Amino acid sequence: MLPYRNSITACLATVLAAGLLSTPALAQNRSAEAVTPSLPIKAARQQPRAVTFASSPAGIKGTLVLPLTSEGDLATRAALLSEAERGAIARALTAAEFDYTDQGTLSLRGIGGWDRIHVVSTGKDLSPAAIQKLGVMAGRALMKDKGPITVLAGGLTAEAAAEIATGMGIGEYRSDLYQAKAREASAPAGTTIVSDAAEAARTAYDDRGKGLVEAMAFARDLSNEPANVVYPESFVERTRAAFAGIAGVNIEALDVPAMEKLSMGSILGSGRGSARPPRMLIVRYTGRGAPSAGPVVLAGKGITFDSGGISIKSSSGMGDMKFDMSGAASVVGAVLALSKSRAPVDVVAVAALTENMPDGNAARPADVLQAMNGKTIEIISTDAEGRLVLADAVAYADAMLNPAAIVDMATLTGSIMTALGDDYAGLFSRHDPLARQLLQAGDASGDLLWQMPLHPSYAEDTKSTIADIKNSGGSGAGAGAGAHFIGAFVKPETPWAHIDIAGMAWGGANDLKPAGASGYGVRLLEAFVRNFQPVPKVAPEE
Ligand code: BES
Ligand code: MN
Ligand code: ZN
Repeated sequence: MLPYRNSITACLATVLAAGLLSTPALAQNRSAEAVTPSLPIKAARQQPRAVTFASSPAGIKGTLVLPLTSEGDLATRAALLSEAERGAIARALTAAEFDYTDQGTLSLRGIGGWDRIHVVSTGKDLSPAAIQKLGVMAGRALMKDKGPITVLAGGLTAEAAAEIATGMGIGEYRSDLYQAKAREASAPAGTTIVSDAAEAARTAYDDRGKGLVEAMAFARDLSNEPANVVYPESFVERTRAAFAGIAGVNIEALDVPAMEKLSMGSILGSGRGSARPPRMLIVRYTGRGAPSAGPVVLAGKGITFDSGGISIKSSSGMGDMKFDMSGAASVVGAVLALSKSRAPVDVVAVAALTENMPDGNAARPADVLQAMNGKTIEIISTDAEGRLVLADAVAYADAMLNPAAIVDMATLTGSIMTALGDDYAGLFSRHDPLARQLLQAGDASGDLLWQMPLHPSYAEDTKSTIADIKNSGGSGAGAGAGAHFIGAFVKPETPWAHIDIAGMAWGGANDLKPAGASGYGVRLLEAFVRNFQPVPKVAPEE
């Protein structure tokens, strides 16, 4: 540790001499309050339905959710309905040619005492992720139902019953934060999950699902909020509020002077055009019984707005760049879920928070910056800013946290969207044993990953004639060049992976989510960290 600190001090001296870190302290210390003279506007927060697990329904009213794997399930799972009611449902299912082999729904009104009977077919895939997805769809479909909801989960495992509840909580999320109707909505009636393993199901939900529901809402709220509400300092405040009172949590937010002391010239350079000062937010959770081999570090790209900077983006669709902090929201969200459920893990979220704006103080193309690990960077495009802020985040983690692994998550490139669309996030790693664990967590959580290459040619593509590396590889493998760039700021032996979520972080409304942020990555990283097995710290063979 000491020699490294010395080298940091030495390199700080050189950097300051060379002026690479010449941050106009005045501009970066302006308080965001002073530059945001906006009236406080009140956002609606999700008011989730209260969840109860019981061995029988609380009453015959409101909405009944009836999961079916086959026609035969009706007699057993819906045994509490009368024969006439079951007969009516069976006739409706036949008439609708209800398909039991695929997830699907049929909503029936006015049967028995129920306002609605919502039949859902489980399909053939009964994995936890598939069952949770079923719950998400039901939660979303029934969001406007006024009465209580009863879910018949008899005959399903306790885990499946808990997954339905988790999914429903996630599916009930709303993104209409600033609409009068959302702000005025009253708390919805509760949900009862009827299970013959009610006690075990409640434990499973309390131990994991509930934390996931809350962390998903936290991450999506942060992403959906516009950039005049969520900027580096307010991101930090919201994080502190969300973690208040949770045991085993330590939060630190590096301000500009603290980052200057650490020679984080890359994030400081990228943040220089904004009136809102950058922050490096570090959230550590150490659970009881956690292994002591060093934490898993999750680094997130937290650009609260990406205008492109001096390499300014075209105006059409630029507003989507309020979502450019989704990686940071997901890494903090994953730690929130793990800490809320008291998982026995050691995990750190490092959120690299800046706003990328054009300004007289902004970094320009051809400027040279120096990251915390001493490497110099030629800026080709100020719009390739995610890799600039992550360079210091991963270098910090590598030097200061003795990480068992570093996984960074970022809305990094448009090019990953071209490659993988909105079905998979791109996974890049020099350490296959780490990549395998992430792919597995992807399958288990439903947040899918597809592994992409890190070809040695990306090193050629990012060679600079004036500095150690440049921040854009030009045309070619754009997502790969971005991944390679971030990897250059991690020691080769440190197990590291990069996840490009540009295609996954937000989108229009569908059966699974309202318009806006998806919360992609919260469930993936939660599952990954929970099941993490240390991998050898060896440099890959060239
Ligand atoms: N935040 C963008 C990437 C992005 C674009 C995410 C569209 C989601 C939708 C990122 O900062 C960016 O601008 N990337 C550039 C990199 C290029 C300048 C090397 C890109 O992908 O074009
Ligand atoms: Mn950009
Ligand atoms: Zn960006």
